[in-house]
Amino acid sequence: MLYRLIRPAIFALDPERAHRLTIAALKWKPAGTPPAPGPLAIDVAGLRFPNPVGLAAGFDKDGEVPDAMLGMGFGFVEVGSITPKPQAGNPRPRLFRLAEDRAVINRMGFNNGGAEAALARLARRERRGILGINIGANKDSPDRVADYATMAGLMAPHADYLAVNISSPSTPGLRALQDEGALTGLLDAVIGARGVKGPPVFLKVAPDLEPADIDAIGRIAVEKQLGALIVSNTTISRPPLQSRYAGEAGGLSGAPLRLLALERLRDFRKATDGRIPLIGVGGIATAEDAWERIRAGASLAQLYSAMIYEGPGIARRIVRGMEALLRRDGFASVAEAVGSE
Ligand SMILES: Cc1cc2nc3c(=O)[nH]c(=O)nc-3n(C[C@H](O)[C@H](O)[C@H](O)COP(=O)(O)O)c2cc1C
Repeated sequence: MLYRLIRPAIFALDPERAHRLTIAALKWKPAGTPPAPGPLAIDVAGLRFPNPVGLAAGFDKDGEVPDAMLGMGFGFVEVGSITPKPQAGNPRPRLFRLAEDRAVINRMGFNNGGAEAALARLARRERRGILGINIGANKDSPDRVADYATMAGLMAPHADYLAVNISSPSTPGLRALQDEGALTGLLDAVIGARGVKGPPVFLKVAPDLEPADIDAIGRIAVEKQLGALIVSNTTISRPPLQSRYAGEAGGLSGAPLRLLALERLRDFRKATDGRIPLIGVGGIATAEDAWERIRAGASLAQLYSAMIYEGPGIARRIVRGMEALLRRDGFASVAEAVGSE
């Protein structure tokens, strides 16, 4: 509610500046406590999620405020993407609010402070709540697979899960790692580096995949016993948009991504036949949206863009709404509702 009042002031600022200020404010605020397991609690990849509503990667790229966000009611928080070396990302402007479309376009290009700085922060935090660390490769790296392996080794001791992001559209050539041959090698390297006792490995995919890619990725995910597939990252496609920023290059997220991400989730459900847990992301703004994703086969949901429009109270609102939908549909647990459509 309060967010409604301050949103005009935030939206008057350049989006990237608004984001920096938000992170700075969150660093000041006492973190609070992560949500306790409620009626929506679910076990995925050996982890007990207190609720299935997570914060997607990209909001807290450097792992500065995971505990503040857990304290806002998110059942899990994914920080990153983090790369081995610090990197500036693409020239500004590179982040655009498409307010008329409840959407965002970004071509940040993995701007982040690098592994060392993130480690210093994440290694000293008290381990409470579920923290995913999303890992990426440096743009100028001569060996991107080695970058992912390095990151997996460094971050494994501090993560409840690792998310391998090979689906950002803003690092040239990155998405080619989704190809069958490349993906097998990449995952072998990451799983090796993560160690036998390391956290589960999740893989984050693009929504702009062909059916043959989806089948191959699904098959490899099962073969490598991934902890989950995260479906999906932003899209390079452009569904009809109203905003004057519609023509900006980059990945589109928010409301216009919703149906595409839902379709891809269904495709991955079919391709994996329930053998790998799925995480639904893309255009989720309401409890109904999240519930639709669960019914379509997701065990967990994540969001980012809707929080820009609705404020950080969105996590608690969606959780409350989903609790009502669970009761309405007569399910005893979220696990029972997964894929029930
Ligand atoms: C500004 C911005 C930065 C992002 N950065 C990352 C990132 O670093 N790594 C990643 O895996 N996804 C990143 N994402 C993608 C989100 O995690 C999410 O997959 C996507 O935005 C779709 O969800 P949404 O519609 O709820 O925003 C970013 C998204 C936005 C809007």
